[in-house]
Amino acid sequence: MDVMTDVLIIGSGIAALQTARLLEGHFQVQIVTKCSVKMSSSYRAQGGIATVTSQEDHPKFHIADTLTAGEYHHEKRNVEILIKNGTEVMRDLLNEGFPVDRQVDGAPALGLEGAHSYHRILHAGGDRTGQVMIDFLLNQLTSNTVVNCYEMAYELLLNKAGACVGVLTKGAHGTKRYLAHHVILATGGAGAIYTSTSNFATNTGDGIALAYRAGAAISDMEFMQFHPSLLWCGGQAKGLVSEAVRGAGGRFVDALRQPIMKGIHEQLDLAPRHVTAHALFNKRAAGQETFIDISNIEHFEKKFPTIAVLCYDNNVNLQDQLIPVAPGSHFLMGGVVADDKGRTSIPNLYAIGEVACTGVHGANRLASNSLLEGITFGQRTAQYIIHTGCKQNNFLIDDKHQQQTMPLLFTKKQLQHMISHALGIVRNPIDMQHFVQQLPSMQELLHVRLDGLNQQELELYMMHTVATLMAHAAITRTETRGAHIRIDKPQNENQWVNRWIIFQQGQMKVRNSLYECHQTRGNAKAIF
Ligand code: SIN
Repeated sequence: MDVMTDVLIIGSGIAALQTARLLEGHFQVQIVTKCSVKMSSSYRAQGGIATVTSQEDHPKFHIADTLTAGEYHHEKRNVEILIKNGTEVMRDLLNEGFPVDRQVDGAPALGLEGAHSYHRILHAGGDRTGQVMIDFLLNQLTSNTVVNCYEMAYELLLNKAGACVGVLTKGAHGTKRYLAHHVILATGGAGAIYTSTSNFATNTGDGIALAYRAGAAISDMEFMQFHPSLLWCGGQAKGLVSEAVRGAGGRFVDALRQPIMKGIHEQLDLAPRHVTAHALFNKRAAGQETFIDISNIEHFEKKFPTIAVLCYDNNVNLQDQLIPVAPGSHFLMGGVVADDKGRTSIPNLYAIGEVACTGVHGANRLASNSLLEGITFGQRTAQYIIHTGCKQNNFLIDDKHQQQTMPLLFTKKQLQHMISHALGIVRNPIDMQHFVQQLPSMQELLHVRLDGLNQQELELYMMHTVATLMAHAAITRTETRGAHIRIDKPQNENQWVNRWIIFQQGQMKVRNSLYECHQTRGNAKAIF
């Protein structure tokens, strides 16, 4: 079955919905998502949206905090766009009636999170910011946007000129072919390739695998962020305990209620995420349990209703004022290389939100900059497409003749265990080498024929593709920077300053700029 539309958006988080609501007054929009519309990391986001609204704060401080947390591995121009443009986008959203929590005087109530030098986190419904935001955006969609749930995109379609003109999906009703003038990847991250994650199980990095197969540039895959505090019950992660809890006075402690962060970092419990996650990792590796002590927080249930319910559902008694926590995968800084308008190295293919790598997060994203990214770059991409219009007239699909049979893959559980061991917060080169040797090669994965596979098999293929790119990048970057620690190279190394590890067409290259690869493509001039 064929569906023809102006703009196709794959994914349904904040970036997808922001783009859809701005485009749908101009064009027909189809959204395709592999699960229900609310199963996104955006919907689960607790902490809030980092943006400058107070008198004492200034975008330059927010920019500085973003650069420090990400250890200066940024595309600085895009960071400025994110913070400055993002401030305006959020101001407009507040004027449109986005219901943030407010103080008695009516000013927004501002939270504090790790590595922020000012209170600047807007939140809604206490810790239900993502949920309130997604409902707000969904409520604005009209019948010009069609939402297709439970359809998994598995192959991008390029025309003979190399432009993206559609996608193949698989769902309960079989295979569908969407043709569109513009195709936007907004598929989120890949946290679910790890055993312990804050993400939904469906966050398997599909958009990155799709783009890689189609020949788009992919970068920064070595940088997976680990959140220090996932609720930990019965040996499993059960969801997020927001950093905002520590912003409100929560403290990491051991079973004897001794503070964990004392003497480790001057910002203590609000140190950058890799510092807190590493400290908890070390405690747990030494056989100790780790907790957040919430005894300093008044009216916890009212301030953090989602976390209170999560605790209740998992038999954690809040009267004890100790929430058991452990680190887990949370956010992938890497992804499909995209510019400030979402454009990738393939014409008419865009990437926005977590699936994109625009260089705004560096090697370690600053807390609550992700919703800001989705809302800001979603708007910029929509504005660009409105400006460009829908002019594609070549929908003749290039049949890529991808005929290779599937290499031997691990089960989902096996892969999750292997990657958690080799590419966790603390990494050593022997484990990484061993891991990469067990994985299919980048080339093998590129040319596999996918048509006959069911959704589970497709997902497993996507996970292996993403894991393979991550493993090669992690081995290649012989330094510690940002979100993880390499035991053989525990410091930043000069030779890796401003170096990007970029994958394209089965090749890996180390480049001096995130966008060098674009210059080698046909559409480079159009982009820069
Ligand atoms: C949190 O609430 O701790 C997560 C926020 C984020 O990842 O930015």
